[in-house]
Amino acid sequence: MSYDSAISALSNDALKHVKNNHVIGLGSGRASTALVKSLASFTRIKNYNIKGIPTSLQIKLIAEEGGIPIIESDQVDYIDVVFDGADQIDSQKYVIKGGGGALLRENILFSLAKKIIVMADNTKFVKNFTRSVPVEIHPLARNSVTQKIKK
Ligand code: A5P
Repeated sequence: MSYDSAISALSNDALKHVKNNHVIGLGSGRASTALVKSLASFTRIKNYNIKGIPTSLQIKLIAEEGGIPIIESDQVDYIDVVFDGADQIDSQKYVIKGGGGALLRENILFSLAKKIIVMADNTKFVKNFTRSVPVEIHPLARNSVTQKIKK
């Protein structure tokens, strides 16, 4: 099975978690792009009234193209379900996220989420992480956070 068909099958399966009137967090990357396209047709066919909160401009444009109404995270108290891809997943099922540059928005959405669905094909699974863990630091805290990370 090709990457695209695997991810498309995965996103169709993930849609089982979507109900009418849900607020949905939209991750970034290839898996999320496939999910958002499937979500747009799924909600149209089911006549579901949902709202999407994007983690990046790219995914916002794809959602808008599919007719998904967009809101921002400060307009809600919680998000029913967030769908997102992964950078890497280790043998203990720890996940590295944020390598695509959407870390801040992803963290805001994850903190509001009742449920998080991470979609990944087998290339993302490793025994031990081989990628760096992304961190995002405010410029004013760069020195102090760097010292803490070094410790
Ligand atoms: C965003 O910061 C990243 O974590 C992406 O969500 C992740 O890399 C997505 O991977 P895919 O492009 O393989 O879905």
